[in-house]
Amino acid sequence: MLRSVLLGALLAAPAMSQIILDTDSGFFGDDGVALTMLLRSNHAKDLIGITVVSGNVWSNDGVGYMKRTAKLLGKPKLPVLAGSASPLVHTPALRRRETGIEFDGAFGLPLPKTYPPAGGIDFLIRTIDANPHRVTILAIGPLTNLATALRNRPDIATKIESVVIMGGNVHAPGNASKAAEFNFWFDPEAAQLVLRSAIPKKLLFPLDVCNNAHLTKTLFDRVVDAKTPITDLYREDFGNRYPGFLKNPKAESFLWDELATAGLLNPKLVTRTESAWLDIDTNFGPRYGAVKLLDKSPIPETTPTTVVLDMDFPKVFESYLAALTVRQ
Ligand code: RIB
Ligand code: CA
Repeated sequence: MLRSVLLGALLAAPAMSQIILDTDSGFFGDDGVALTMLLRSNHAKDLIGITVVSGNVWSNDGVGYMKRTAKLLGKPKLPVLAGSASPLVHTPALRRRETGIEFDGAFGLPLPKTYPPAGGIDFLIRTIDANPHRVTILAIGPLTNLATALRNRPDIATKIESVVIMGGNVHAPGNASKAAEFNFWFDPEAAQLVLRSAIPKKLLFPLDVCNNAHLTKTLFDRVVDAKTPITDLYREDFGNRYPGFLKNPKAESFLWDELATAGLLNPKLVTRTESAWLDIDTNFGPRYGAVKLLDKSPIPETTPTTVVLDMDFPKVFESYLAALTVRQ
């Protein structure tokens, strides 16, 4: 009996490396759902820490949001550390010179009054150093933290097991600008540094696949019906903020960070990929942050990126609903 219970547990939770969630969490949003999916999965124990980056909001606020969500999910002691406060090059002043931006996240918000120590960068470096080839980074915000860690310690690139990224748009239009997706547009130079790096495995969930995962009022209603502390946060954010289902039932959005999380937790959900050499347009102008699809490696050490193009969406939505509607 004990043997079959243990066997069942092993089968349910195949060995995975340690996971660090690198997020630009706002109030809750898709980053909050991503954390919920992780902590309510068989891989909850593999999540060893959260590093926060500026993107949706400034990172000092993101730390507070992630701590609150982790606490509600029963993990008050999970390390949540601020990383970089600002992108490598992009600034609010530069952003004011750009036109046609549909969403500018933290750039549209007042600057932080205080800056917590950026312990997240050191946490990334120390964890990778101590666990060579055993750390996967789930990066669901701008790539500033990882890029900064790679700048400070270039040798860790090959010691990372893999990076799973939500960001970019390869064949589809952008969502921050016509050309660029938000996470890559917020910090184009960081995205370039990571995509050009020697990290052995890079798995990218771009808008191309996210555009097929519609978040509708029907789905929203199914989640909020559970009426738990987590779905109350979900209701407030998706209902009254973005995309505002309680104000406009016809509003629509997409699953973004949730797809990368679902694909990490269950790789079988990924049904079509392509291997590509990717780079980022870092010329300041209308294509700032856009993905460039190359026909060869941009620099010798670059490894290719696996671009996710399709997923088993019925199963993705099943896991999304299951994680969010658990009553606890
Ligand atoms: O473009 C979608 C991405 O931008 C998601 O990571 C979302 O959370 C925002 O950061
Ligand atoms: Ca995000």
